[in-house]
Amino acid sequence: MCGIIGYIGHREAIPVLLNGLKRMEYRGYDSAGIALLHNGRLNMTKVAGKIARLTAQLDGQELPGQIGLGHTRWATHGEPTRLNAHPHTDCSGNIVIIHNGIIENYHTLKTELTAKGHTFQTDTDSEVLAHLIEELYEGDIEHAVRLALSQVKGAYGLVVLTGYEPDRLIAARLGSPLIIGLGEGENFIASDLAAMVDYTHNVIFLDDGEMAVVTRDKVTNTRLNRQVVDKKVEHVFFNIEEIEKDKYPHFMLKEIFEQPDSIRNAMRGRLIEAEGDARLGGLLNFQDHLETVKRFIILGCGTSWHAGMIGEYLIEELAGIPVEVEYASEFRYRNPIIEPGTIVLTISQSGETIDSLAAMREAKERGATVLGICNVVGSTIARESDGGVYIHAGPEIGVASTKAFTAQVTVLNLLALKLGRQRRLTLERGQQLVAELHRLPDKVRAVLDRAEGIRELAEKLVDKPNFLYLSRGINFPVALEGALKLKEISYIHAEGYPAAEMKHGPIALIDENMPVVFIAVNGHTYEKVISNIEEVRARKGNIIAVVTEGDEVIRRYAHYVIEIPPTDPFLFPILAVIPLQLLAYYIATLRGCDVDQPRNLAKSVTVE
Ligand code: AGP
Repeated sequence: MCGIIGYIGHREAIPVLLNGLKRMEYRGYDSAGIALLHNGRLNMTKVAGKIARLTAQLDGQELPGQIGLGHTRWATHGEPTRLNAHPHTDCSGNIVIIHNGIIENYHTLKTELTAKGHTFQTDTDSEVLAHLIEELYEGDIEHAVRLALSQVKGAYGLVVLTGYEPDRLIAARLGSPLIIGLGEGENFIASDLAAMVDYTHNVIFLDDGEMAVVTRDKVTNTRLNRQVVDKKVEHVFFNIEEIEKDKYPHFMLKEIFEQPDSIRNAMRGRLIEAEGDARLGGLLNFQDHLETVKRFIILGCGTSWHAGMIGEYLIEELAGIPVEVEYASEFRYRNPIIEPGTIVLTISQSGETIDSLAAMREAKERGATVLGICNVVGSTIARESDGGVYIHAGPEIGVASTKAFTAQVTVLNLLALKLGRQRRLTLERGQQLVAELHRLPDKVRAVLDRAEGIRELAEKLVDKPNFLYLSRGINFPVALEGALKLKEISYIHAEGYPAAEMKHGPIALIDENMPVVFIAVNGHTYEKVISNIEEVRARKGNIIAVVTEGDEVIRRYAHYVIEIPPTDPFLFPILAVIPLQLLAYYIATLRGCDVDQPRNLAKSVTVE
């Protein structure tokens, strides 16, 4: 997640900006930069990599100035290079901006501005804001920002500084947090309380659609339509340690609770309601490939492989295209057959997993079109694939993947929808799926609201030595994912199986000491899953069932029921996995495990 800090006041700005950026390092980023205004001149320094490099670059330089901006960037559009780092300027270098969020219509705006003679330096969506404000500036920066934002679609936390009006900062917020910190003869703007904790505890939280003009001594809040807004000054208490994980004890829990937003971001600007379809910018050059593809091979490891398994159900059901899912580590050593018309889809959160990268290279060498579904922009898999789709989940710091998984499955739904609408999916069915995707983040929130009950369940199961996770159909990979989550952070042995497979061996394991977690939501195999639950019940297994809200049947057999809201069968995996993420998290913390850095594990396995 990018970090924003702006300062105007009586101190030298650079130490304030660097301190603020350091306080936001925990959010994860891949480049950083600052802009300083002194005697009407703007001076910018940017680096790819960490703030330490930025500090080193500034050391020894004479850079006075009491007004400036700082930014840490988590790349979404454009690789994590120095050039793509924020701040960004207009053509004249007299207007500078820093931005969090995604400008959905930046392609259109960039084309229009280029036609008007603007020259762009970077591949980012954010830079378009600097040029649009320049285009509209006629001596009043506040007005130019207001006009520019009325043309923008997407999300922004934006701060603007110009040498033309050196006594003010302009802030604006829509969908990405911005906070104003109030001092004596100085004021601050930041995306995160942590960036200003050392200077003030008196803050104003901007709301969506609001702007602020911030001078040394005054803050004026308005809405985009110029209506003045009377904002409450709040006195906030916090200790920096707590803020660094946004009040969460672990990054993993924070990332589990970020999923309404990360799923929203995975879909942002990609749903076409009127056509019941999806728009995936990274695949614009592959329309013909997608229309003629004969077979998909999906490659991944671990959680990404589980997402791929769900992708198989989605693409085969919605589009009728054959899909094969392979462990990347097996595929690369297996002399794979790649026929014409094959698209290889590599799923990887980090985009650096060596097995997935090597497998993709192998497929490419054998003539396949290779596409990537990654989270880290500019990662090796993203760069070496022919094209692909970023999942926009934001930095995932916890080793156990949670929000990346649900964002991967969300993007796979968009891809399957797109493929389906090119083939056999009706407009009506497509629009149904789009409507349910829009409702998904709120339903995820509803599941998260039940976390306390899952924590209580974890207390009952914390000493169990083995678990089984069972389901059928599109939710079978969710059983695999639930077992993996528990294994990798609590060190308890757990296995995921197709529920029907139990009779071929695993049922021998069932006794009163074996918790069996069923994903038993509504669907065409629901009755079959109930039979499997009865088989476990008959052998005194300890049954935990994830069910659809209002299900009164399964609670007759299960010892513990976790209800999730009804949704489209294709979206159930995204809701059903969340209780399993929470169950694993609470059991692991009760066992005193290092949840964010489990033993023996790395966030990205970049070596064989
Ligand atoms: C998932 O919780 C694990 N951390 C691990 O299985 C991970 O999914 C796997 O290593 C693949 O990583 P990638 O998505 O970055 O390629």
